[in-house]
Amino acid sequence: MGKSRPRVSSCTRATIGRVFQRLEFRTLGRVYCYEGGDGFWRTKREPARRLGTRIAAALSHELSIGGRSLYVGAGVAEIPALLMETVDLQRRVHPFNLRRLEVGSLNRACQGTPVRFVTRDAATAAGPFDHLWIVSVLNDPERFPDLAPLSYGRADPVTFDPKRFSIQRRTVQSLVDRCMPKLSRPGLVTTSTEEVVWIADWCHRHGIPYLVGRKQFPTALVGDPICFIHVGMPKKSGRMH
Ligand SMILES: C[S@@+](CC[C@H](N)C(=O)[O-])C[C@H]1O[C@@H](n2cnc3c(N)ncnc32)[C@H](O)[C@@H]1O
Repeated sequence: MGKSRPRVSSCTRATIGRVFQRLEFRTLGRVYCYEGGDGFWRTKREPARRLGTRIAAALSHELSIGGRSLYVGAGVAEIPALLMETVDLQRRVHPFNLRRLEVGSLNRACQGTPVRFVTRDAATAAGPFDHLWIVSVLNDPERFPDLAPLSYGRADPVTFDPKRFSIQRRTVQSLVDRCMPKLSRPGLVTTSTEEVVWIADWCHRHGIPYLVGRKQFPTALVGDPICFIHVGMPKKSGRMH
């Protein structure tokens, strides 16, 4: 990849800014928060744009021009990366999200850009993809209330329900099992540091080498840092397995 290429072009930065201006934070507040959605977005909007753009810049150095990316559970946080991929790298992106209200709202904000969110199970997407983005999906406390506290080391041994946990673990593993085969190799996975274990587990079960990048990138909304995993071919720096 050419070193002179801007990480996120000024054109893409301007588009990201315009989309963030158009985001309907009242609607999104209802999706992201039980209450206090307006206040949440007042404080999170600018960090989400800034940190999202920083991640997009780092991602631009990991991807080649013209590939395809599958985004599982994409929302506001993913907008800068999605725009960088489509505008700067001429890649095709497929962002999926199960929340209809959020998808409608995100698509109105992204009108006039190549980014189009879809309300569908990402596991139904037709591959192959050379990049899989899955951030704050496999440890979502809303969907996995018994698994998430364990992931974050906050499970209560008195009330912990191992039966409910194993059902949720099966659901998470099944989502990973249905998405990972769509990744061509070598391929890239973008995920949170909390979710690396699920990708690593899949690679171990399939005897596929992977490398977790050492660099971590802070995020604004869920707060878990993001990292890159190279699947199928070792790269120079990071832990190799
Ligand atoms: C906690 S939110 C994370 C949103 C965003 N990635 C972020 O980091 O702010 C989890 C999202 O994953 C989506 N999701 C969960 N399973 C999915 C699947 N199988 N296909 C598509 N989206 C999924 C949900 O609809 C929800 O929007």
